[in-house]
Amino acid sequence: MHKYEKIWLTFGTSALVIFLVILGISAVHQGHSPAASGIETINPEHVRDDARFKEPGLYEAESDEYDYELYFVASAFQYEPREVEIPKGSRVRIHVTTPDVIHGFEIAHTNVNMMVEPGLISKYTANFNKEGEFLIICNEYCGVGHTDMTSLIKVTG
Ligand code: CUA
Repeated sequence: MHKYEKIWLTFGTSALVIFLVILGISAVHQGHSPAASGIETINPEHVRDDARFKEPGLYEAESDEYDYELYFVASAFQYEPREVEIPKGSRVRIHVTTPDVIHGFEIAHTNVNMMVEPGLISKYTANFNKEGEFLIICNEYCGVGHTDMTSLIKVTG
């Protein structure tokens, strides 16, 4: 092979490799970009392996922005926890995900209303300033047990 041909061949191959690496990097980057836009992804098959959703419930927030973080796992046909007590006046960051199908998460008589999709963590910040019991209901049809799918938030003074 001619010397220059060899140089060009090497150059061409290197350029191709670099190009593929750049493509790979941008693909990886795109895979993570939903987090940057505020939507967090989660592998629906491993919801329970995630420390936050292993024992869903109310936890003191680490950030000053909220008093509590509240984790829920929605699945056919229940929410976990089934009942949760929140001290009146709390600012709560709610996180909900599901391992199976699309569910809803609506706290009756409040503005809290979101869709829960496998693979995503839906979030909502709510202030619980009113004492009482608030029913969480599923407002996306998810199967035979859809109407029984509820949980209860008790806001205590
Ligand atoms: Cu879950 Cu409807």
